[in-house]
Amino acid sequence: MIIQHRSELNFKLDELEPMQTPGRVLMVRPTYFDIEYVINPHMEGNIGQVDKDQAMKEWEALENAYREIGLDVPILEGAEGYPDIVFCANQSFPYLDRNGTRNVIMSRMAHPQRRGEVEYIRNWYAGQGYHIHQLNEVSSNPEMSYFEGMGDALWHYGKRLIWGGYGYRTSLEIYSQISELTQTDIIALELTSPEFYHLDTCMSILDDEHVLIYPGAFTQDGLDLISAVFPHVIEANSYEAAKRFAVNACCPDGKHVFIQEGCTDANQKMRDHEFDVREFSTLEYMRSGGSVFCMKMMLW
Ligand code: ARG
Repeated sequence: MIIQHRSELNFKLDELEPMQTPGRVLMVRPTYFDIEYVINPHMEGNIGQVDKDQAMKEWEALENAYREIGLDVPILEGAEGYPDIVFCANQSFPYLDRNGTRNVIMSRMAHPQRRGEVEYIRNWYAGQGYHIHQLNEVSSNPEMSYFEGMGDALWHYGKRLIWGGYGYRTSLEIYSQISELTQTDIIALELTSPEFYHLDTCMSILDDEHVLIYPGAFTQDGLDLISAVFPHVIEANSYEAAKRFAVNACCPDGKHVFIQEGCTDANQKMRDHEFDVREFSTLEYMRSGGSVFCMKMMLW
């Protein structure tokens, strides 16, 4: 079922089926990371502006941090010709089915510049023994058939529920296929601001009860749904959300939050809720419209 309004919510948080949380973090080495085209407002004026050495250092600091908190971090080498493949939240949507089998749904990228990345990532999953699913075009209309993986579709922490953003990179119409494949209800949230073009730029699920959001990127229906499900909604301010990518923070284990440095207000609020917040520089990636959350894929 696709839920778009609070009146359609027929469950409470504690009634949701539990689901194992992922313990592995896939990262793609940024060897060929660059800004070669403009497909989101953050990339404007930044073509050719990436400092490659700095980008590699920033990426390595994150890789080490995931290992330090005890997660397994498989690394995939970068691919020439795909400057955005380092943002490996976008090409796929992995999940565990009720038998415990590892599955993955491959994305249908909105922009032609990124479509070739999907095949590359798909081959990696094939080598790992995942059941791989392709999405069908909806009503012979490519614009109704976009899906950008865990950029827009987020698993509720530890529960069988998906939050699905739509409007820029993912189409509302695609979610019925995702719901059917995963056998999971999806709460669909319309995104309203081009700077927050993926759900992971304005919603970061910290654990089953806490979420960090930027309210300015949602409709009132969306905000009502978020506050109906999460007992604790932490709000980032517009400066930290838009200029520091605060809400692209990643909480891989329900305890540690990895976030772009300088998000003072969001960090204080999360620390007040007992999260262990750690700051990183992702400046080179922010020029491309991404930060911590986009630079990895959580896996089972
Ligand atoms: N330059 C990339 C794009 O526009 C950045 C992707 C960031 N990823 C994310 N999940 N927000 O597609």
